Amino acid sequence: TRTMLPLLLLLLPAAHGIAEVGPRPALTREPSLEGVTTASTFVLDQPRCVFDAYGNAVIWLVVALDKDTSSFNNSAGPGTPETAFQSFPKSVRAYMTLNATLASYPCSKPAGDITVLRVGSETSCAQDESRPTCNGPLPGPGPYRVKFLALEGSVPVAETAWSAPIMLRTAKPLSSISTADSGHNAGMIAITTILSILLAILLA
Ligand SMILES: *[C@@H]1O[C@H](CO)[C@@H](O)[C@H](O)[C@H]1NC(C)=O
Ligand SMILES: *[C@@H]1O[C@H](CO)[C@@H](O)[C@H](O)[C@H]1NC(C)=O
Repeated sequence: TRTMLPLLLLLLPAAHGIAEVGPRPALTREPSLEGVTTASTFVLDQPRCVFDAYGNAVIWLVVALDKDTSSFNNSAGPGTPETAFQSFPKSVRAYMTLNATLASYPCSKPAGDITVLRVGSETSCAQDESRPTCNGPLPGPGPYRVKFLALEGSVPVAETAWSAPIMLRTAKPLSSISTADSGHNAGMIAITTILSILLAILLA
């Protein structure tokens, strides 16, 4: 059975019909940026040197809620109502955005080059149904998962695995924070009081 596992792993992508390349998309860690996640955006590393074997492909980013990733069909057409940002997540389970050719993701990193993607940065097209590939602000805290998908024409040829779940920031009202704090303090006071009483009893 030891030899079976690598064999199975080799056969899996073939059965799937499309090559899996790595690494999976991830939130940017280097350089450390302010606001890698905000209430409606997050920042990913570009998929550089990931799809090099697919020179004619256009690379798309697929965005889904964590719970809906398995229902995404790689044959779904970008720029169509079934993958339109404006219908996400109500009737569209995953939208496709940030299309780029391979030339946008060169392997080398010239100094000063921007090598990150901010998902959710385009507010102007968020309501514009004529722009289904809009990179519009994310509609809630998530959690989301994303993957890159390479299409040659309309044919999917390669993809990354889905990212780990990405949670966005939620604005916490100040009142809830201070309540939590005073609750903690009250608990501390209670414990201290009980300890003092126990000590008094022991010493008596
Ligand atoms: C994905 O969509 C294509 C084209 O619409 C269809 O032929 C195929 O059966 C679908 N695959 C799955 C797993 O639903
Ligand atoms: C991205 O897709 C849009 C809509 O399909 C298209 O107009 C645009 O030219 C594409 N850009 C790239 C770089 O492929």
